[in-house]
Amino acid sequence: MPYPEERLRRLRRTESLRRLVQETTLTRDDLVYPLFVVEGRAIREEISSLPGLYRFSADRLASEADEIQELGIPAVLLFGIPKRKDPQGSTAWKKNGPVQQAIRLLKRHAPGLIVMTDVCLCEYTSHGHCGLVQGAEVLNDPTLEALCRMALSHAEAGADLVAPSDMMDGRIRAIRRALDQAGFSHLPIMSYAAKFASAFYGPFREAAESAPAFGDRRSYQMDPPNRREAVREVLLDIEEGADIVMVKPALAYLDILREVRNACRHPLAAYNVSGEYAMVKAAAARGWIDGGRVMMEILLAIKRAGADLLITYFAKEAARALRAD
Ligand code: PBG
Repeated sequence: MPYPEERLRRLRRTESLRRLVQETTLTRDDLVYPLFVVEGRAIREEISSLPGLYRFSADRLASEADEIQELGIPAVLLFGIPKRKDPQGSTAWKKNGPVQQAIRLLKRHAPGLIVMTDVCLCEYTSHGHCGLVQGAEVLNDPTLEALCRMALSHAEAGADLVAPSDMMDGRIRAIRRALDQAGFSHLPIMSYAAKFASAFYGPFREAAESAPAFGDRRSYQMDPPNRREAVREVLLDIEEGADIVMVKPALAYLDILREVRNACRHPLAAYNVSGEYAMVKAAAARGWIDGGRVMMEILLAIKRAGADLLITYFAKEAARALRAD
């Protein structure tokens, strides 16, 4: 029955009707807030490329955790920025590294807040690559052992979930085994399964001081044109033991999110990355767009594409907007 009998505008007439037939909803339960932790004391410095975000020393995290919990955000994802870097990234598994300290503080201060940790060497290596390097080559298998040590040190400090983001082959299997052997068989792994080599990570690399000193990450992160390969990455990581799979970045990769959603039944995370955040902030600061509305439209679109969890620098702002609803 087409027009004039059928009229889709009937259900759009009022706000209440629109709410009644709304297909996708965003809730605070979906949000994960990234936190950058530095070595030192009494540090809380704004990150210039990510306005509204700060680098914290572990001792300054308590009030931030209170605010995050008060806003109803269930989880944080920790990134560490060490003072000392070496070619092996060996500060990544230090018992008293910034992330390990932050985990202990957060679990003591706010036990209900889920503490996830990024597992990747790039913030800890002097060359800035996500793996061990020989000449111009980023080595796969020798990197796995380092990643396992890093994941284990996070587990021992009390992390609730580890999230490997390095894109080495076989790392989910290696980390799952290492965790199980050490008595952490209950600890979930969220795999950055389909992570693309993207220019959208620019502001993050400034925030985390993790830009590669030579070359780029295209020999291990995925090539942006490849959709089928993204599904292979996800299915392999599931076979290797991933509990949650992720697509990253989100906004330019909504088709990948949908493809992955249709290909598996695992919880699906999307990383709304630093460049996606920075673009909105920059345009809003110039008065070119309504930043708050664009934020909500983007987050809803990521959910509509198929994501269950949204890792986003907007988490606090979005939680505030959702609470006010
Ligand atoms: C790697 C890592 C990166 C991001 C999260 N984990 C950077 C990279 O791969 O270069 C990017 C996140 C963002 O841009 O918001 N440890």
